[in-house]
Amino acid sequence: MGNVHVFDHPLIQHKLSIMRDKKTGTKEFRELLEEISMLMVYEVTRDLPTEEVEVETPICKATCRKLAGRKLAVVPILRAGLGMVDGVVAMIPAAKIGHIGLYRDPETHEPVEYYCKLPADCNEREILLVDPMLATGGSASAAIGFLKQRGCTHIRLIDLIAAPEGVARVQADHPDVDIYVAGMDERLNEHAYIVPGLGDAGDRLFGTK
Ligand code: PRP
Ligand code: URA
Repeated sequence: MGNVHVFDHPLIQHKLSIMRDKKTGTKEFRELLEEISMLMVYEVTRDLPTEEVEVETPICKATCRKLAGRKLAVVPILRAGLGMVDGVVAMIPAAKIGHIGLYRDPETHEPVEYYCKLPADCNEREILLVDPMLATGGSASAAIGFLKQRGCTHIRLIDLIAAPEGVARVQADHPDVDIYVAGMDERLNEHAYIVPGLGDAGDRLFGTK
């Protein structure tokens, strides 16, 4: 079963508390999501393999370390996942970017697909799938399914906030995928919104409500 990693770093928790506040406006919400994404990806990539390289410094030759192994791709789940991309690529500028468009049907809460464009070599890459909210887990599970259909075998899911129901769904459907979250919340409400959560991430990010 995939592991769940909860980041309790004080900087992440501080910024997340401001994002949860309903008085926080779109500009600050967007900036904070980018900052937290940057901090999270630093931890998410902690176990990436490195290899020794020889570097000539202005002083002498030195044996140093550089990333080795699979190249990376960031894949946001539209729309809200877009708010995490800049933070991730600030740390991993060579990453390619794919997009998966899904929205949750307001009645059934089931994900509806409307777009999927992935790097041609995504099956050879380590995939960082990003979306601020893991609620029922339907969207994340479907997105992971698309990635697997394209041959992706190394997938990590990065969410800002998760509900236990969403974690359980992804773990049941995709036991090979590790999940990284900044906030592990209590439950879903009757509209399948995360409690306490932060409301509708897409609307708060883009100012659409
Ligand atoms: C939100 C969120 C996730 C999904 C989570 O997107 O960004 O993609 O809901 O819910 P789930 O775990 O129950 O599937 P939404 O469908 O509101 O679309 P948006 O990002 O375009 O606003
Ligand atoms: N999508 C959101 O944006 N927020 C929730 O709480 C659940 C799904």
